[in-house]
Amino acid sequence: MEVVIVKDSATGGALIADAMADLLRRKPDALLGVATGSTPLPVYEALGATVRAGEVDASHARICQLDEYVGLPAGHPESYRSVVLRQVVEPLGLTENSFMGPDGTAQDVAAACAAYDQALADAGGVDLQLLGIGTDGHIGFNEPCSSLASRTRIKTLTQQTRRDNARFFNGLDEVPHHVITQGIGTILEARHLVLLATGEAKADAVALAVEGPLSALVPASALQLHPHATVVVDDAAASRLKLADYFRATYAAKPDWQGL
Ligand code: GLP
Repeated sequence: MEVVIVKDSATGGALIADAMADLLRRKPDALLGVATGSTPLPVYEALGATVRAGEVDASHARICQLDEYVGLPAGHPESYRSVVLRQVVEPLGLTENSFMGPDGTAQDVAAACAAYDQALADAGGVDLQLLGIGTDGHIGFNEPCSSLASRTRIKTLTQQTRRDNARFFNGLDEVPHHVITQGIGTILEARHLVLLATGEAKADAVALAVEGPLSALVPASALQLHPHATVVVDDAAASRLKLADYFRATYAAKPDWQGL
């Protein structure tokens, strides 16, 4: 696992957008897995700016969703499908044809989950999966004690996550209890995992994920199992890392050509 400590979220966003742009130059139809929440917004802003400046052609890029609420009506502005279309797909000049996600409106949720895992495999797998981290250490919506081998499936949100996400809804009562999320086993199949965490509220979760034991209690610790995992954190989110000095020195000495 590589840990890159940056001064702020804009710097982290630009760094990850550069890695995505490099990937698209090598593989124009790369499948980019994207995350929702506030943290990844600087990534999407920086990538959009790079595309608009003509520095990379994203017209063949494919975008896929990490997770979804269950039971929100189709087209609900806070369904993750709507959010990803609004924040990523449309700003990159892409359409729904370049986009895939699990069906949170399906009557048969189990079938929708299995279909999404199959669709990801049929698409050749995710090339780069961007992740955020919940304050309880979740990735996607894999809450604590999710199986580290899990596939895409329905999960029940913790109250902590529902409270964290209530800001996107008209109060806590409107936040769904159930979600579909790529499983941890599914996420680990992506070729490159990039987790971005910013702000002090994430410092404990980051320290447990990066330096704690591998544990289903901290789903993000599963990144320790991945051969190419990059954790980008700002100074605040890195504030409880025991090895912060080592991570800073390692990145400072890294040859530019290696990229992320
Ligand atoms: C939600 C999403 C996660 C995201 C998390 C953190 O729970 N399912 O993918 O990482 O929120 O969001 P934020 O970046 O807003 O803190």
